[in-house]
Amino acid sequence: MPQDVVGTPASERGELAVRMLAMPADTNPSGDIFGGWVIAKMDIAAGVVGAQRARGRVATVALDGLSFHLPVRVGDLVSCYASVTRIGRTSMTVKVETYAHRYRTHEEVKVTEGHFTMVAIDAEGRPRPVPDSEVVST
Ligand SMILES: CC(C)(COP(=O)(O)OP(=O)(O)OC[C@H]1O[C@@H](n2cnc3c(N)ncnc32)[C@H](O)[C@@H]1OP(=O)(O)O)[C@@H](O)C(=O)NCCC(=O)NCCS
Repeated sequence: MPQDVVGTPASERGELAVRMLAMPADTNPSGDIFGGWVIAKMDIAAGVVGAQRARGRVATVALDGLSFHLPVRVGDLVSCYASVTRIGRTSMTVKVETYAHRYRTHEEVKVTEGHFTMVAIDAEGRPRPVPDSEVVST
């Protein structure tokens, strides 16, 4: 099996930010899950981890290097792992890897990966600096 599909060891995958069951309503005419459904879950995962790091609202401004390695099938348990890989002034890169736990075989495979650029925004939707540290004062 190619390394891309075997993927990263579970302990090195970043945060499990989204987990969903792929349902029949999410399929294309071929019976596989729509790519757009998977991208939407990845975007949520990037938003969850990005908002934690930015300590507030974020918006997706770009998506780079998206690869679909294998199809997602009905019944698969789909998990999106996300981690911040770059911090700029107002933007961050969040790497998202998606794994499918196959319903029939119980095999786990990497199905997609991509890099989301998330921008920290204020209440008016304007870019704001990403805070220096993840430490939250009490
Ligand atoms: C996110 C948004 C507020 C940024 O506004 P902007 O006027 O482009 O702001 P800036 O030009 O100051 O860029 C802000 C940061 O984003 C980065 N950026 C902007 N466009 C980018 C792009 N296409 N790709 C990568 N990074 C980008 C800039 O480099 C900058 O990063 P830095 O501060 O770390 O150096 C604005 O583009 C926006 O509202 N976009 C729509 C977001 C959205 O609705 N997403 C969901 C789509 S359904």
